[in-house]
Amino acid sequence: MPAGGLNWSALPKSYKFYEGRPPLLLPRDFHFPDIPLYGLYAGESKGTSGDKQPDTTILSEILFLSYGLTARRRAVGEDFFFRSVPSAGALYPSEIYVGAWNVEGIPSGLYHFDTTRHALILLRKGDFQNVLDFEEVSRPPVSGKGVSFYISGIFFRSSWKYRKRAYRYVLMDAGHLIENLVLALKAYEITPLVSLDFKDEQASVLMGVDPMKEVCLAHVHFPGRGTPRKRRPASLSPLPSDIVNASTVSAKEIVFPEILDIHRSGNTLKRNVSPHGAMKDLLGIRVNQWEGLPRPPAETPGTSFTRTALNRRSHRNFIPEPLAPEVFACLMDLLASAATQQGDPPFESLLSLGFLAHAVEGLQTGFYLVDAGRRSFGRVRIGSFADPMASICLNQEWLKNAAVHFLFMTHTATLDRTWGPRGYRYAMIAAGRLGQAIYLACTALELGCCGIGAFYDGEARNFSGSRPFVSGGRRVYPALHHILIPIRFPIPPASGGNSAFY
Ligand SMILES: Cc1cc2nc3c(=O)[nH]c(=O)nc-3n(C[C@H](O)[C@H](O)[C@H](O)COP(=O)(O)O)c2cc1C
Repeated sequence: MPAGGLNWSALPKSYKFYEGRPPLLLPRDFHFPDIPLYGLYAGESKGTSGDKQPDTTILSEILFLSYGLTARRRAVGEDFFFRSVPSAGALYPSEIYVGAWNVEGIPSGLYHFDTTRHALILLRKGDFQNVLDFEEVSRPPVSGKGVSFYISGIFFRSSWKYRKRAYRYVLMDAGHLIENLVLALKAYEITPLVSLDFKDEQASVLMGVDPMKEVCLAHVHFPGRGTPRKRRPASLSPLPSDIVNASTVSAKEIVFPEILDIHRSGNTLKRNVSPHGAMKDLLGIRVNQWEGLPRPPAETPGTSFTRTALNRRSHRNFIPEPLAPEVFACLMDLLASAATQQGDPPFESLLSLGFLAHAVEGLQTGFYLVDAGRRSFGRVRIGSFADPMASICLNQEWLKNAAVHFLFMTHTATLDRTWGPRGYRYAMIAAGRLGQAIYLACTALELGCCGIGAFYDGEARNFSGSRPFVSGGRRVYPALHHILIPIRFPIPPASGGNSAFY
């Protein structure tokens, strides 16, 4: 937060509008599928890429579940809308663009998803399925049909408040949205391919965004069934300036060169990557003994993904009550599944997942590491860390009542060595994806949860107890990046002002 407070006269707009471009309104009579969240993570969705093709009704539901306006609060005479994903500072830097390639009911082209009107705005006509692919990244050949989702981030929406620190929030927010989108697709039996590797500059041209202000962060794609065709990518012409100028969200925008530098330094792909193994083994945090994660009860909660997505909210008014062992077991089981399902690059090569157990029945208070692949965990240190953690997190006192804090840790120099500067993007997006899994699991288990991005980096690093180690001749430390905290907080079913859709 800048010294001297926020400049309210520069407050960025939360929504993109394209003047004079007619909306293709999406149907709003939703009939969401009733698939348990736990089933989706346990791999019970039967679909594979290309099995199903969405029509406009399904596409409409997928977009609403991913990023729809799910709650309204009236503040100082104005409506503020919350969404199905959380966002640091409720600033919502992410946007979704949809490439509908020969989908029934939608003329082929590239669209922007307008959340306020629940509509698609046509930006570019034609089929541009494989224009972003790097030559060295092998992809299944495309057939005539398919849908692509491009997730972007608008820097100033977040940097208005968080200045240059905003880059990590823009990435994490995108991660939350990607996880929601992937789950929404799976709920309709569609298993998408998530790619963080594409030609950045081509993506800006394709989407018609101003690359100083808005950038593409992910491509979520599923090719349709049909005879695969190897095609030469279509050539892209720049979109008109009224479209590109829509990336401007405030008349008083400031460009932070540090953000542009770090983002642009990751524009290229590092070739011949040799994986470095699990991040948990590289942090210098020692676990004495590993043991199996507690097994969840046979009857895991049946709450549907759609209900959890629509009811998810950040909760901070925790009650100081311990987590029951079976609830903790369900939570850890889902997290281990969510972490192992993230591939390319795998979650465990990017981040190490730890947790502080503060009030879990039957578990000694302390700091633990998780090995999601082996479904095991091990204690690092005994002790109560509730007070120091609250102070590390900028004295957010309410954190002291949290039963568990999850910590996502990474070693930035190792990321850099393996993937080049793009590795930082991968790690922060992966943190956001797992953060969303924690939010959804907590909602299903009727626990409160809140993402935490506000913490002193240096103090958090020292707290994790990791040894400094040498990289490239310099002493470097693992960085701790993201914390989420669930605790018992009974949420009345489908309440809290979330049941209405906007
Ligand atoms: C990456 C990230 C970091 C966040 N950091 C904090 C934080 O430090 N403190 C806090 O109280 N809330 C934090 N939040 C929660 C947001 O304030 C919250 O998502 C936003 O106000 C929207 O409300 P909702 O989650 O109920 O929809 C964070 C959320 C995300 C996704």
